[in-house]
Amino acid sequence: MSGAPILALRGVGRAFALGGERLHAVDAVDLDIPTGEFFTLLGPSGCGKTTLLRMIAGLERPDTGRIDICGLRVFDAGQGVDVAAASRGLGMVFQSCAVWPHMTVFENVAFALRTRPWRNRLRPAEIAARALAALEAVALGGIEQRRVSDLSGGQKQRLALARALVAEPKLILLDEPMSSLDAKLREHLRRELKALQQSLGLTFLLVTHDQGEALAMSHRVAVMRQGRIEQIGTPREIYRAPANAFVAEFIGNGTVVQSGIAAPVLYRPEDIGFSTTANPGEGWLPCQVLTADYSGSFTDLVVLAPGDVRYLVRVAGEQALPDGRYGFIRLDPAQAIRLR
Ligand SMILES: Nc1ncnc2c1ncn2[C@@H]1O[C@H](COP(=O)(O)OP(=O)(O)OP(=O)(O)O)[C@@H](O)[C@H]1O
Ligand SMILES: [Mg+2]
Repeated sequence: MSGAPILALRGVGRAFALGGERLHAVDAVDLDIPTGEFFTLLGPSGCGKTTLLRMIAGLERPDTGRIDICGLRVFDAGQGVDVAAASRGLGMVFQSCAVWPHMTVFENVAFALRTRPWRNRLRPAEIAARALAALEAVALGGIEQRRVSDLSGGQKQRLALARALVAEPKLILLDEPMSSLDAKLREHLRRELKALQQSLGLTFLLVTHDQGEALAMSHRVAVMRQGRIEQIGTPREIYRAPANAFVAEFIGNGTVVQSGIAAPVLYRPEDIGFSTTANPGEGWLPCQVLTADYSGSFTDLVVLAPGDVRYLVRVAGEQALPDGRYGFIRLDPAQAIRLR
């Protein structure tokens, strides 16, 4: 990643009329994204992610602020600057993807290359090679002659992704590009997308409400709530050092423990020890196991410990409900995440 931001936002905001009120969908957001970064906007439904992305794309007009792309001002509310979406040089993949239904899969992708300005025209053989490579990348290789009307929803979404990738724009905006895919395909595409982003040196701005997706793919993540950014950090920073209780609870699971006048702390489920040994020794608290949900590579337990606190505990592999539902947990203060 180089230091120069490819995207810079200052005070970008947009309010909508809601009854007699003004709803601040996006509220004075500042953001700098350096070239080559995989950056994710993460937050619950309705927090303003799509509105922010649409403003960057030039599809929604901000009420306030300014936007620079590659060092050029594309929007300034004060100066009346507003560069058209098509001239912002971005690739886009949106929630409701628009692919051309009357073309084949191949034509959809090749078309994006044929319509380039004459200076950047490619030879037909190169267009074909690039289009096929983009289709391979999103696992649509082999069905390039199929008509778009015969594709499933997930296939259409991947086609939209291939079309955005093929032109190799410097910045690609992606709004929930994997929301309609099945779990297996999502995981495959996550890895593909990350590898492509890195090998092509692209900058990605992804919008998602899926914490796992954000943590697995991104260099940095911005957690949004009600139009504002609550925290920006690496996946590790927002998971291990959340700025506040909202971020802590939105990113992954955990148990918040209040203790007197001290700040509340959070224990991540994988940080709590669990044992069914009769006398595990010092530091272990007896508990009652309420539920055990097996998920293949791990089991999530909900246990009731002294003080009437319910902890979520994640153990590797399979853990059946113990006899009599009794067990022990151990809380390591060094793993406690202090919340402000
Ligand atoms: N054109 C509009 N008119 C009125 N309100 C709008 C409009 N577009 C968005 N909103 C409101 O602005 C808020 C933010 O919407 P936005 O679509 O940006 O959320 P989001 O974070 O993308 O949510 P989701 O995860 O569900 O896609 C919501 O309360 C939404 O109802
Ligand atoms: Mg949205």
